[in-house]
Amino acid sequence: MANTTTGRLIGLNAIVTGAASGIGRQTALRFAEEGATVLAADLSADGLTKIKSEIEGSGGTCHTHVTDVTDSGTVSALFEYSDEVFDELNCVVNNAGITLTGGVHEISESDWDREMTINVKSIYLMSREAWPRLQKSANASILNTASIAGSWAIMSDAAYCASKAAVVMLTKCMALDGAREGIRVNCVSPGFIDTPMIHGFFRDQSDPAAARAGAIASHPLGRLGHPSDIANGYVYLASGEAEWVTGTDLTVDGGLTSGLWSPGE
Ligand SMILES: NC(=O)c1ccc[n+]([C@@H]2O[C@H](COP(=O)([O-])OP(=O)(O)OC[C@H]3O[C@@H](n4cnc5c(N)ncnc54)[C@H](O)[C@@H]3O)[C@@H](O)[C@H]2O)c1
Repeated sequence: MANTTTGRLIGLNAIVTGAASGIGRQTALRFAEEGATVLAADLSADGLTKIKSEIEGSGGTCHTHVTDVTDSGTVSALFEYSDEVFDELNCVVNNAGITLTGGVHEISESDWDREMTINVKSIYLMSREAWPRLQKSANASILNTASIAGSWAIMSDAAYCASKAAVVMLTKCMALDGAREGIRVNCVSPGFIDTPMIHGFFRDQSDPAAARAGAIASHPLGRLGHPSDIANGYVYLASGEAEWVTGTDLTVDGGLTSGLWSPGE
């Protein structure tokens, strides 16, 4: 990895949230590999130290900021820091998120609020700070991590599914609002991706091994997604190649939501 002269994101300055783990970590790595300068944000200071050393060890540039995306104060501080380290901001990847399982009869009010705040309100808090900065910059875009759960109901996952449906619609609303202001807004909807989040989801099931095997079998392409499958989608959407793409929900799910599928045949 290095800030090469041939990368697809040369000159791009990007904030990535949830960058200490899983999809966000891989997105930060791929952006740096394609020549972007990354400002990695997360709750985990240790995770940020690791991603910074990984990117910089390969010749890239990575700044870090410990940020709680649900807290407007630390979100403002993140953008003030971005003003210090970037001459302009071109891209924000709103990726931090959680999943708390349960139907509406099971999930507590505080867990419901937590899920909605981290998965949805954070995008509002981040995007309203990003907006005036992106209005002034070239190739400006906001990228949100939604989920196939935003259009495909999952049993015992009501709050998560509702939160991701909100992310898809928020993306489309922001795309219309940004269209004449030079700000593109898109989201990616992953299938099941092999990250700590999905490991926790499997652990919460009565038979975790069977849950994992069932998840693999339900993806026609025959495996769980790698974080890089999603990061590659973000590289495209952040790049100039996607200059006429806004309001899109890019599904990256190994065929999971294409239709009925009989893995045994
Ligand atoms: N893994 C999957 O199967 C899958 C599928 C669809 C969508 N997603 C979405 O992808 C995104 C990333 O998930 P992942 O699988 O990489 O999870 P992950 O648990 O590996 O990483 C999530 C990261 O977000 C950070 N984070 C959590 N709350 C935060 C907060 N308040 N402020 C700042 N950072 C915070 C965590 O510290 C962690 O580093 C989430 O939005 C998730 O809903 C994941």
